[in-house]
Amino acid sequence: MRVAIVGATGAVGTEFLGILEERRFPVTSLSLFASERSAGRELEFRGSPVTVRALPDDGDLEADVVFSSAGGSLSRAHAQAWARHGAIVIDNTSAWRMDPDVPLVVPEANGDDALAHRGIIANPNCSTIIALVALAPLHRAFGLRRATVATYQAVSGAGMAGIDELRDLTRAALDGDPLRPRKFRHSIAFNLFSHDSDIGDDGYNVEERKLLLESRKILGLPELRISATCVRVPVFRAHSEAIHAEFEGPVSADAAREVLAAAPGIRVVDDRQRNTFPMPLDASGGDDVLVGRLREDTSLPGALALFVAGDQIRKGAALNAVQIAEHLIAQGALRAPVP
Ligand code: A2P
Repeated sequence: MRVAIVGATGAVGTEFLGILEERRFPVTSLSLFASERSAGRELEFRGSPVTVRALPDDGDLEADVVFSSAGGSLSRAHAQAWARHGAIVIDNTSAWRMDPDVPLVVPEANGDDALAHRGIIANPNCSTIIALVALAPLHRAFGLRRATVATYQAVSGAGMAGIDELRDLTRAALDGDPLRPRKFRHSIAFNLFSHDSDIGDDGYNVEERKLLLESRKILGLPELRISATCVRVPVFRAHSEAIHAEFEGPVSADAAREVLAAAPGIRVVDDRQRNTFPMPLDASGGDDVLVGRLREDTSLPGALALFVAGDQIRKGAALNAVQIAEHLIAQGALRAPVP
C-alpha cells in the first residue's frame, strides 16, 4: 500500500509513523508532506530516514491512502484532488466531517459506514471519538437518549504549538518569569480555561457543538441531545471526560460494566477501594480508552455517570484513522493497485 501523510511533522503526523510501524500496516512506500518550511527534513520510518516534501501542485500524492492532518483549510482545498488521483483520503481535520457524502467513522461505533466513501472519510473530533468508544456499546445495549459531557482536554489538541506552550509556560511560572501565552489566549500553566474555539450565538463553543453534531451522525441518532462544556487543562496528551448519559430503558451500573468490559477499545479502570479511576497519564501513549467511575446517576432514573480518559493524539486522531484504513482492508475495500 502506498501511504502518504500530510502534516507529517505535526503532533498527529509524527504519531502516524510510529502507529503504522507498530501495527505492521502494509506500507510499500511512504511519502511525507508538510509545509515548505519543513521540506528536506528527515523523519525515521522502520529504521530508515524519509525526506519530508512540500505538497505537489498537481494534487498527485502517488498514494493509495492519504492520512491528512495539516489543518481544515488545507484539506478543504486539496482533499478532493488527492482523491481524484486515486487515493482514499482519511482526513483528521474538521473540513469534511459534516458533509453528507463523507462518512464520519469511529470503527468501534460505525466501522461499516466507511465502506460508503467516495474518496474521503472523515476522522471525528478527538473528544467525540473518546466519548463514543464508551457510549456506542452502551447505546447498543440500552439506547442512548441524552448526555451531558464535561471535558478536561489536553493541549495536544492544539498541535505541537499547544504542547510547547504548556512546557514553556510551566517552566516560566516555576522560574517566576512573565507568562506570555502565544497559542492560547490565557496561561495554561497552573490554570484551565473554556475551550479555545469560537463561541456561537447560543453560547456553545465550536468544540461543544462538534460533540453534539458528530455524535448524532456517527450513532445515526438525529434526535440525540448532548450538552457539553469543553475545558482545556494543563495535561500534555490525553483528554478526560465526565459523562452523564440517559437511556431509553432501565440501566444498572453492573449491567453497564459488563457491556463495557466486553467492548472493543476499552479498558475498565474502576477500583473503588483504591480510589483509582481513569487518569490522563495512564491513558497517554496507550490505545485503549479508559472507562470508570461507573455509577447510576442519582439525579435521573435510567441514567449512568462515568469518567473516561483517552490519548488524544492516538485514539483521538492517528490511531482511529489507521483503524479506519485497517477496517477497509479487512473488508477487502482497500487494495493496492496491481502494477
Ligand atoms: P510544518 O511543520 O512544516 O509547519 P500541528 O497540528 O502539530 O500544528 O501540525 C500541523 C502540520 O501541518 C505540520 O506538519 C505542518 O507542517 C503542516 N502544515 C501546516 N501548513 C501546511 C501547508 N500549507 N502545507 C502543508 N503542510 C502544512
